[in-house]
This record gives sequence, C-alpha cells and structure tokens, in this order.
Amino acid sequence: MKKIVISTGGGDAPGLNAVIYAVVRSCYRRGWEVYGSKSGYKGLLDMDELLRLEIADVDEIYSMGGTVIGSTNKGDPFNMPVKNLAGETQVVDVSDRIVQNFTRMGFDCHIAIGGDGSLEIARKFADKGMPVIGVPKTIDNDLEATDRTFGFDTAVATATEALDKLHSTAKSHDRVMVVEVMGRDAGWIALYSGISGGADVILMPEIPFDMDKVCGKIMDNALHEKDYAIVVVAEGATAMGGEVISKGRGEIGRSEVLLGGIGEWVASEIRQRTEKDTRSLVLGHLQRGGSPTTFDRLLAMRFGAAAVRLVEKGIFGHMVALASSQMTSVPLEDAVKSRKKVNMQSDKVLTARDIGICLGD
Ligand code: F6P
Repeated sequence: MKKIVISTGGGDAPGLNAVIYAVVRSCYRRGWEVYGSKSGYKGLLDMDELLRLEIADVDEIYSMGGTVIGSTNKGDPFNMPVKNLAGETQVVDVSDRIVQNFTRMGFDCHIAIGGDGSLEIARKFADKGMPVIGVPKTIDNDLEATDRTFGFDTAVATATEALDKLHSTAKSHDRVMVVEVMGRDAGWIALYSGISGGADVILMPEIPFDMDKVCGKIMDNALHEKDYAIVVVAEGATAMGGEVISKGRGEIGRSEVLLGGIGEWVASEIRQRTEKDTRSLVLGHLQRGGSPTTFDRLLAMRFGAAAVRLVEKGIFGHMVALASSQMTSVPLEDAVKSRKKVNMQSDKVLTARDIGICLGD
C-alpha cells in the first residue's frame, strides 16, 4: 500500500483535473491512497487542508477546467510571505515544516503538477530528500524537456476562435484589431493561433519587432483589396530596443511580474502611423479557462497515469514528459533548466512566412 499526495501549483491550465482523475484512478487500481494538498503546498503546510481523494470525488472531473484542489502562484514554501505580529510582511522558509508533515502523514510520494516555478520548487524538495514526481503544466508550452504541456492546445483553440470572430467585425469597419494573447517567455500561443486564425501579423518574444515592418504589412493589405488587419501579439513581445510592458509586481509573494499592455501599445503606434481605425483587446484568462480539448485531456491523463507508473518503479526526482509522441521522464533539474522558445527554423515559422504573415522583422 502506498500513500500519494498530489498538488497543483502556479496558474491553472485546462487539464489539471484530468491529471488528478488519472492519478486517483491509477492509484485506486493498485490499492493505494491519494490525498490532495489544497492550494499548492497549503494543504501540506496546514494539515487540515489535506483532502482524501476517492474515486467518487473525481467522477467526471476530467472534462472540467480549473483544479478541484485549488492552485496558487504565491505559495513558494521556500519564500513564503507571512505577516508578523506588527502586521509587517516577512518572507520565510517553511519547507522543513512541509517535509516534516509529509513524513508524519506517511506519504510515499508527492506528485507536483506545475509549470517552471512549481517544478523548481518540486526540485528543491527532491534535493531535501522528498520523493517527488513532476507533471508538466502550462498553457504557455514553454517547458524545454517535454514536446507539449497540457493546457496549451485548449488555449490555442480559444485564441483561434476569438480571432475567427474578430475577422468579421474588423472587416465590417475596415479596422485593425490587435489581440494580446498569453506567452510570457515564448510565442507558442501567438504563433499557433495566429497562423490558424488568419492573422496578418504575429509578434512573439523571440523576435523583437520593428513597427515600420508591422505597419508596412498592414498598409500592403490594400494591394489585395483588404482594408482590415488582424495583429496577434504575445504579452511578452517587445519592440526592437524596447522593454517588456508590465503592470508591476502584482500581489505580495508572486515570483513574476504581471505582464500586460503591449497590445494597446502596438495598437496606438499603428493608429498614429497608419491613421487606420485600430482597437486592441486582451484575451487574458479566457485562455486558461474552460473544458480541456480532447488532446489536452488525453495528454493530461497519460501524464497522470505515467506518474503513478514511476512511483511503482521507485523512480523519483523526475518529471513525466512527452517525447516523439511517447511517454517518458526526465530528471527534474533538466526539466527546469531553460524555457522552450519557438525555433526560428521550425516549419511553423517557415509556414507563417511563406503564407505572408509578418513576424515583425
Ligand atoms: O504562465 C502562464 C500564464 O498564463 C502566463 O502566460 C501569464 O503571464 C501568467 O500565467 C498570468 O498569471 P496570473 O494568473 O497570475 O495573472
């Protein structure tokens, strides 16, 4: 009999519940117990927030967005913000308490589902001797050690649907519509949805863009009797020589700045330079919500079941991964080493260029 604790950390992504579903059911078949740690590590920190997960608790959750055990992106146990008696916020390391609670509960393994930040925390716990297995999650698809993360396919589908809808309104008004999509360090969502959604311009963090080129492309549309344009810009994209536009640090305890604003900046530049009617919108968290696509559900369930098989084999300190359509695993330190950027020689980038999409360069 084994006892597993599972957590979901960082921003949510469609497919989290499908992983939980697969872990609980795979463990049940082996006669093992599963607990969910509420809101990242909070459950393991305050033991009253540990939920026993039975088959009935996960019935049909595979099709639901979000996570039934909650998540947080300000719960790093190695840098936890807590208020002292004077009401001041101090950053403390509560990781030892979590390791103690893990041992006291008699857990055999922690399955940590998360993106780069959460997997880095999982790696630190593995260094402290905790048996940990990581499951890669992020709509941004920017984890180097796996071909895909779940959540990405759903986010791309949402963004593509939005672009489809924007075509008719842009065309009716001869307008330029600038759509800001997520993508902090990499332009995966922008590139995939932009190609699939018929964008004229796609701007990604990988290519600092030149506004002259962007506006030139928009004006050139007139050569083909097209008086409107669709521009997709990833939140982490920057103009040549410019900086990432952010809204500052956001809430206390967040490890990353809150990105946002590049879409409106690009729109105002286009408005001034081309004198065309231009509007911008931010798709934001719509991309993280909703039911996972079939691809994401299946990938999430494959990851969940593969994680349980690793526990069975006694392989810890690894992250499950997808490589050439097969389930595999990689050491956690390799999983968090670097961000996966869009490859400029990939056929998707070549496709975008071949069909006349401007990438800002
Ligand atoms: O990492 C996923 C992501 O969706 C990023 O693209 C985005 O910058 C961030 O999460 C937003 O996080 P929050 O929900 O904290 O605003």
